[in-house]
Amino acid sequence: MEQIYLDNAATTPLSPQVIAAITAAMTLYANPSSLHGLGLEAEKMVDAARENVARLLGVSPASLIFTSGGTEANNLAIKGFLARSRQRGRLVTSAIEHPSVLEVFKDLEQQGWEVLRLPVDAQGKVLLPALEEALAQPVQLVSIMAVNNETGTVQPLREIVSSIRARQPQVCIHVDAVQALGKIPFHPAELGVNLASVSAHKIHGPKGAGALYADRRDLLLPLLWGGGQEGGLRSGTENVLGIIGFGRAALELAKNLDANLTHVGKLRSRFLNGLQGLSCKVISPADGAPHILAVSFPGFRGEVLLQALSAHGVYVSTGAACSGKKGQLSHVAEAMGLDRETAGGLLRFSFSALNTEAEIEYALHKIRQVLQELAFVQGRSTR
Ligand SMILES: Cc1ncc(COP(=O)(O)O)c(C=O)c1O
Repeated sequence: MEQIYLDNAATTPLSPQVIAAITAAMTLYANPSSLHGLGLEAEKMVDAARENVARLLGVSPASLIFTSGGTEANNLAIKGFLARSRQRGRLVTSAIEHPSVLEVFKDLEQQGWEVLRLPVDAQGKVLLPALEEALAQPVQLVSIMAVNNETGTVQPLREIVSSIRARQPQVCIHVDAVQALGKIPFHPAELGVNLASVSAHKIHGPKGAGALYADRRDLLLPLLWGGGQEGGLRSGTENVLGIIGFGRAALELAKNLDANLTHVGKLRSRFLNGLQGLSCKVISPADGAPHILAVSFPGFRGEVLLQALSAHGVYVSTGAACSGKKGQLSHVAEAMGLDRETAGGLLRFSFSALNTEAEIEYALHKIRQVLQELAFVQGRSTR
């Protein structure tokens, strides 16, 4: 059976170049903190990886702190910043963040912080007037994601940053850029944000490696204390192989960024064309990140479609469909105002540069087939 992987927003396969780089480094067992020659060799590999990730982001290598992934980078950004800063003001985020941001704010709220969650429009974009209203009081930190992981919605970060800086220039701005890196142009220093989180396994690197960009290292206190690695901001012996894989993934991406974006954009268009004539509703905005398409098949359950497609070797996700507790809408679907039927029938198709047009055609063929089979069982039309 063919296997078509269209769940690249969950994680991406390792690229052949990353596999080669990690394989070659497998025998490099030294601790980068060791002072002998082997230790220095390991340290050099970590430094080279840092340079590659920094180049992709357009930042200085010294501004990157390697972490265990996007979740840790988000936690370090928000909790590390609040641990360091003395003042106490409002915390502002959006209603559609990834759980690694949402849950941190929930915890802070329980500790007595005032947390404002900005509403979004039907496309999932933060409502700027709500941000302006939030900034009427002193704000300490704003954390808004660059690209939503369920719908691909790209936030208008330029407008958001200039709105914040015009009203309260000193506010710390954090961006969860895990779904932006390599998917849309994203350069945190040029954008003028203070902190940005990225993750290796979304760009064909390994799981368990990520980074936080910090424009000033003295913005943060560490979450993990110990041997003082990563300039004291993230203790613990480095995940050397993971970091090397991350660096290689970043290097490959930097070389092929434009070609990848064009290719993934083509896959998306082809997929959208193939959906024409089917009874479905595209939820992702037309100007969303090219790698994510949330599509609802009203009258069908997302999880049923997912399993039926999986049985045909087509792997997708339910994304913003009903999730968690029975009948509960995902927080993203709810914030975008999707009705129950639309949200319940959602599937998330997510592409990578490793997918081919032939795979898209095959997936479309299977989608049509599965819809017909299920419609037959349910006694309904697919058109
Ligand atoms: C937007 C976003 N932020 C954060 C994360 C967490 O990253 P990691 O899996 O590296 O912890 C993800 C992963 O799905 C994500 O999509």
